[in-house]
Amino acid sequence: MKIKVAESAGFCFGVDRAVQTVCRLLDEGKQVCTLGPIIHNPQTLSRFEQRGVKIVNSPAEVPEGATLVVRSHGVSEDTLDEIAERGIECCNATCLFVQKIQNIVAHASKDGKTVLVAGDAEHPEIKGIIGHCSGRCLVFKNADELRGIIDRETVRPEEPVCVVSQTTFSVNEWENCLEIIKRVYTNAAVFDTICNATAIRQSEAAELSRQCDAMIIIGGKQSSNTAKLFELCKKNCAAYLVESADELPLSALSRAGCIGITAGASTPASIIKEVLDTMSEINQGAGPKENTTEGSFEEMLEESLKSLNTDEKVHG
Ligand code: F3S
Repeated sequence: MKIKVAESAGFCFGVDRAVQTVCRLLDEGKQVCTLGPIIHNPQTLSRFEQRGVKIVNSPAEVPEGATLVVRSHGVSEDTLDEIAERGIECCNATCLFVQKIQNIVAHASKDGKTVLVAGDAEHPEIKGIIGHCSGRCLVFKNADELRGIIDRETVRPEEPVCVVSQTTFSVNEWENCLEIIKRVYTNAAVFDTICNATAIRQSEAAELSRQCDAMIIIGGKQSSNTAKLFELCKKNCAAYLVESADELPLSALSRAGCIGITAGASTPASIIKEVLDTMSEINQGAGPKENTTEGSFEEMLEESLKSLNTDEKVHG
């Protein structure tokens, strides 16, 4: 069995920064609250819960003396104001790439532009971005919804428009939308704000899935970027989205000659390692080994682990 692991699998810069912020505060003995789950990964959340981290839905729920961490998705301007007004000690771990989008839309709104956001209106990152617009803002999740906005003349072609995308938006769908925008809103200020980490993960996953019989995508079921990886991979081969090694479809995988593994930006290295260990066990139990990886399976495993972003501190 041949196993190939995507080079960029695992924590991205923004998620790592948010998780490390919580770890640092816990190490300093602080009582920590996070505004919503800090990460879309149940195992990490449960470890944080064991260390006393409380998830709150609003600044009003933060107990006296606790430190509030704003997660990488960011929050609205109103929420930041409320945190300040309540005098809550706050560590803002909004990813710098998300902050950049918030700044773009805030300026565009002040300039009287209508803001168009490519993304999922229900996702916290998008809710936060909308909350930095002081004027009109519309969200579309794909080219069809964008066409709907145009057909209904909700935003007319002559209106000044600014367009941004959710950091985890599909690169392919963005290109489809861009074609329409350039044709209809000829004066639009367009910002490709898909995060590089997302773009690289998507292109690696697409490439890997073309080379393999099956793909394992490791990540939280709530994770937007993990879902995008899964969608991309299943176009090219059998794809399995798992949150942990326990969910691996072992009998289907044991029949695959080449398996690719990737993971969402919020998947800790420890879970990727568990999956690789389980795959190693399947490989050992698969009878005479026809290992086509360069070097042994164990060497491949070791190489893959070296490139992963470790998250040892989460375990306390
Ligand atoms: Fe930030 Fe990109 Fe990760 S926007 S949170 S580095 S996916």
